[in-house]
Amino acid sequence: MADLAEILMIEHLAIKKSKWIVEKPYENEAFVNFYSYVKQCHIEVEEKVCFPIMEAYAFPDSKQFNQRVERIKADHKLIDTLAANMIKWNEQGNESLVAERVPLFYRLLVDHNASEETDLLPRWDKIQSAEVKSSVKDALSIIESFGVKKYINATCLNESTFNYIFRAP
Ligand SMILES: [Fe+2]
Ligand SMILES: [Fe+2]
Repeated sequence: MADLAEILMIEHLAIKKSKWIVEKPYENEAFVNFYSYVKQCHIEVEEKVCFPIMEAYAFPDSKQFNQRVERIKADHKLIDTLAANMIKWNEQGNESLVAERVPLFYRLLVDHNASEETDLLPRWDKIQSAEVKSSVKDALSIIESFGVKKYINATCLNESTFNYIFRAP
């Protein structure tokens, strides 16, 4: 079983490699599917499982650290607003505006994930708590409610790899 920080790093790599977002013309269904994974699964695991454990831990600089977590959560809101606008503009037939904002959306998301990997995730293995032990199981239940097949599609993981990461003892 991988640990939760490693799982999020693998997901970041999958997101970074989803270059079709910028390389192909905007396709609403593909974008909605991709963004529903990002929002309902990736960000949900970060905000409901990973960040609360990190924020509750007494790091020597926890006040500063928790401010960093708040900034990261503010990025999630910004990314969500942009994605919702893109979907709305597409519905309204404003395709040129959507096409113009696609590179911004991709860059915001990839840069955001990079800052999580620099500022937050390296601390994960410093935390000793019962919640860390159950965190992968908690992430798995979010993934299961999102849909394991959809998760595997979005991340390009092999099914055996998925089982090894999440279900191996
Ligand atoms: Fe995030
Ligand atoms: Fe992330």
